[in-house]
Amino acid sequence: MTQRGRYIAFEGWEASGKSTQAQLLAKRLDAVLTREPGGTDLGERIRELLLGDGPPPTERAEALLFAADRAQHLAEVVEPCLAAGRDVITDRSYGSTLAYQGYGRGQSVEELMNLAEWSSGGLLPDKVILLTVEAELADKRLGPQRDRMESENVAFARRVIDGFIQLASEDSRRWVIIDGVGSVEEVAERVNAVVEAR
Ligand code: TMP
Repeated sequence: MTQRGRYIAFEGWEASGKSTQAQLLAKRLDAVLTREPGGTDLGERIRELLLGDGPPPTERAEALLFAADRAQHLAEVVEPCLAAGRDVITDRSYGSTLAYQGYGRGQSVEELMNLAEWSSGGLLPDKVILLTVEAELADKRLGPQRDRMESENVAFARRVIDGFIQLASEDSRRWVIIDGVGSVEEVAERVNAVVEAR
């Protein structure tokens, strides 16, 4: 029987370096690299609805669109790859819903967790790697070109960042916090150490 692949998610505030680190780890493990929102054709369309300059969704509609993207992503990409024995590295997962829509927007984290579990059919990442950077540093890294979420104010950023830390501390078996400050190589070494240690 084929051994199931590993399912690893990267999480963090904007410009935390998670996309770069997700790419590097996927290459190193020869894993499937994917992302939320996006990762499927339908998901890329949902991503455009969520982050493009079209009409902004209400807070609940926003949460549901992220959930719809996740449902499609899990069914079409993640589960089949894991079942075929491939490791899957995803750039964001359910943690972003809890941090952004929950802690950031102020919606019930408990209800959002139920929604995340329902939309993913109960399949959560085996490991979540949270890359941390200060809100001010991330703001500098981001520059002037920003999507709808990146244009949120620093108070929103702080709530999301603190929310991520809270989530990691409540589920330390699944979540691990990695300092995202340093060169790409330095941070990659920290990530590798965590993945090797498993
Ligand atoms: P990114 O792919 O550049 O990180 O952009 C995705 C954006 O979507 C980012 O601002 C975080 C946000 N997001 C949520 O608010 N909730 C979610 O569930 C997910 C997956 C992403």
